[in-house]
Amino acid sequence: MTEKNDFLTLGIETSCDDTAVAVLRGGREITAEFLSSQIGDHARFGGVVPEFAARRHLENILPLVDAALRKTGITGRDLNLIAVTQGPGLMGSLLVGVETSLALSQAWDVPVIGVNHLEGHMFAPLLEFNLEPPFLSLIASGGHTEIVRADALGKYATLGATRDDAAGEAYDKAAKLMGLPYPGGPEIDRLAKDGDPYAFDFPVPLKNTPRVEFSFSGLKTALLWQVNKLKDGGELPINDLCASYQRAVTEALIAKVSLAVGQTGIKNVAASGGVAANSALRRALSESRWNTYLPSPSRCTDNAAMIALAGHCAWQRGIRNQSGLTPNPSLELP
Ligand code: KG4
Ligand code: ZN
Repeated sequence: MTEKNDFLTLGIETSCDDTAVAVLRGGREITAEFLSSQIGDHARFGGVVPEFAARRHLENILPLVDAALRKTGITGRDLNLIAVTQGPGLMGSLLVGVETSLALSQAWDVPVIGVNHLEGHMFAPLLEFNLEPPFLSLIASGGHTEIVRADALGKYATLGATRDDAAGEAYDKAAKLMGLPYPGGPEIDRLAKDGDPYAFDFPVPLKNTPRVEFSFSGLKTALLWQVNKLKDGGELPINDLCASYQRAVTEALIAKVSLAVGQTGIKNVAASGGVAANSALRRALSESRWNTYLPSPSRCTDNAAMIALAGHCAWQRGIRNQSGLTPNPSLELP
């Protein structure tokens, strides 16, 4: 990417339960990054409570912005751009990020640009790697599971998505029914390390269909049956259950990446979203015959640096908010 190196972008991400703020200098250097996770707040409810999340964002956002500016050694007026997640996500959460960005934009006389959260995830690998389009992007998070072909930055085609649950949701729901804490993905990943991935023969959803598509609700039901059967016998073989379940989810994801590579002939494969932090998926992708681009785990989950970079690149391409900026919980990829 070619751009002025001193262009300063403030990234703001509040689409779900993490309040994240980052300052990006040029197209690469992250001068400050702060994230306030609400995991502890929502864990006792077993999932994200939207109303509660919005209130927490409201408390967190300005102190985090302040900290990011201080760390970078600038004031708000020194910024060149504010990039904020516009959607998809939870309405109340998005509203806090967008309204705050608009207010700061007014106060500091700095332009603001809305960023699609999924496009943000697609930019996470670009924070760490030199990856030029065309490439394939597996986005697997708590709310989305899709494979996108990036023909150019800003020009995307969704090759296929999930029919029901997202992969992260499949992990979270599985964890819940095994009595494990929220969020389930990291917990299952951890417990699977000491388990046998072939102990249980869970079905790999839609493995052999000729379409890029996912479905995880049947797999979750298979786990539920298995857990109910095992419960009668006493303590659950939790490590084996986690390892086997993780194997099935991973195989489902890899099967469709493989199909997408075959259909498009594109061998550059990036992965992002919280599930891209999963160790089994990372191993499978790294051992594949494709050129894989895996951001470090903290860049897979929601963060503001990816939003700042996506916003920065969109701005460089001349994208502007045509009719004002409003949050859109069901915003689609450009
Ligand atoms: O991208 P993300 O932080 O937020 C969304 O945009 O949804 O993804 C969160 C999801 C959660 O469902 C979480 O359980 C899952 O990513 N996740 C993982 C791992 N780390 C986070 N799933 C499997 N293995 C992990 N290590
Ligand atoms: Zn996300």
